[in-house]
Amino acid sequence: MVQAPPPPTRTLSDLVEDIQRYTAIVEQWDPQQQQVVLQLKQAIEALHKEALTRLIRSVKQEAMGALRNATQDEIVYGLLRYHELVKAPSLQQRLQQALDEVRPGLQGHQGDVELVSIRLPDTVEVRLVGACSHCPASQLTLSEAVETAIKRHCPEIEHVVEVAYQPVALSTEAPPEPNWRLVTSLAEIPEQGVLDLKLEGHKLLLSRQGGTVQCFRNACSHLGVPIDSGECEHGILTCPYHGFQFELKTGNCLTAPAVPLQPYPVRVSNGQVFVQLIGLD
Ligand code: FES
Repeated sequence: MVQAPPPPTRTLSDLVEDIQRYTAIVEQWDPQQQQVVLQLKQAIEALHKEALTRLIRSVKQEAMGALRNATQDEIVYGLLRYHELVKAPSLQQRLQQALDEVRPGLQGHQGDVELVSIRLPDTVEVRLVGACSHCPASQLTLSEAVETAIKRHCPEIEHVVEVAYQPVALSTEAPPEPNWRLVTSLAEIPEQGVLDLKLEGHKLLLSRQGGTVQCFRNACSHLGVPIDSGECEHGILTCPYHGFQFELKTGNCLTAPAVPLQPYPVRVSNGQVFVQLIGLD
């Protein structure tokens, strides 16, 4: 039996054009008719949002990876953003995405790059490490690869500054830069759990996936209580009080996407974990 060809798929701009065409027609109608159309639109959108919320809730535990893959599609992502069911990635997440993008090229030459600090509103400091730190072409590497990737992912960043490599002091007496503090070692952070720490008025919640560490304010987005005693499973931390769930890799709140955990910049160097203490608890 000859299989029917798959139905033609439509692009995001095709679909948006349809909406714009009908919107232009409705704008010619009298205000009363426009009001009826608006209410119909809101009722349909409410139905879609409720269905999407239930869909996300039911698949997030079993198939978080599939959900993440689905949101790579621009139409799916655009619809979920429209209904406020996913949030835009934070500046730090976009910076990490940019560095992850250039990392394979640098690592191919025994080099790497690390994020040193974010100086709001428009500057980031990065450090080339390994072979890149003393390569004569490192300035070129910085501007052509690292800076280009950062500016593409983070258009609000205008200045990418390279800071020189300095051996990391392993003492809390001598933090490497202002506001950066040595908080613990990589080995102290459990792979499948979280570590809570208090430092200079900051309540920190650290988690890690292999050598990658995240640090958040240890406070539930719901009522601000510490969440380190919550159950941690498959990278999802559940608040012990009313069950808000947080993805530890990103800090995203799966229960209420508009209220993620508050992140702190993190740097791992020589197995030591440094956190930039920004803002006060
Ligand atoms: S305090 Fe965390 S869910 Fe209510």
